[in-house]
Amino acid sequence: MAMAELPAAQAAVLADVRALAQRAPRVCVLSGAGMSAESGIPTFRDAMTGLWSRFDPAQLASEEGFRADPARVWAWYAERRAGLHAAQPNAGHRAVAAFGRRRPGVLTVVTQNVDDLHQRAGWPDTIRLHGDILADRWLEPCPHGRACAPAQARPGQPPACADCGNLLRPDVVWFGEMLPAGAIDAAERAARGCALLLVVGTSGAVWPAAGLAGVARRSGARVAIVNPHASDIDDDAHWVLRGTAADLLPRLLDA
Ligand code: OAD
Repeated sequence: MAMAELPAAQAAVLADVRALAQRAPRVCVLSGAGMSAESGIPTFRDAMTGLWSRFDPAQLASEEGFRADPARVWAWYAERRAGLHAAQPNAGHRAVAAFGRRRPGVLTVVTQNVDDLHQRAGWPDTIRLHGDILADRWLEPCPHGRACAPAQARPGQPPACADCGNLLRPDVVWFGEMLPAGAIDAAERAARGCALLLVVGTSGAVWPAAGLAGVARRSGARVAIVNPHASDIDDDAHWVLRGTAADLLPRLLDA
């Protein structure tokens, strides 16, 4: 497919970011939902197409929402899981993974995405800040101090422990919850230690992930954003590239 030509100022930015990516001793990629948009996974905050324009995060992405209507939340995640199973990594995921393999020891990928598309593209060590939509965990520690075990599946309901009734829930971070132990520390270390932070496809609206651009910049890294639209953290960036992940990442990262 022919590549669209960039306006001259953007082409110059692209050349600068590319030059740094190819020589930087450490590069960190921070991805958000826009990274997977061209794989057909909906983002959260894009007008019209974003999940939060159609669904209420308080009902579908919080522990209170799950407790109020477990079947509804379980069904919503089942639908998103099915969408992910049908999706493939796009050229952006593939460019990131190929870059990392070509330059061993250089790349850290930190993602806010709960999909597995960076991993499937060939970057298994991706740091997941918001969990894994394909995994489950128990809602509560077992009240009897034993290991819970799911009973027979109940149609339309999340699996429950045969013994204590504990429910399985998706292993993602919901609003009001802490990030997985270790993940944000590892991400901050990567942001502090890199020479280039490439921020791809995030609105920069959700913390602490959004703070990583500032962390990197204050630690002396150059920060570049890839996003077709403005984001809340554009002011933290030295460079902003207006375009999509699948189009721009191969141009930035391919050999
Ligand atoms: P958002 O939906 O908030 O933002 C998506 C961003 O991707 C927007 O800035 C878009 O402009 C941009 N975008 C859209 N298409 C793109 C493309 N093809 N290439 C590059 N960029 C594109 O998603 P996040 O910032 O990831 O939390 O949202 C952060 C968190 O909020 C998510 O991880 C999720 C959500 O609630 C949890 O699941 C805990």
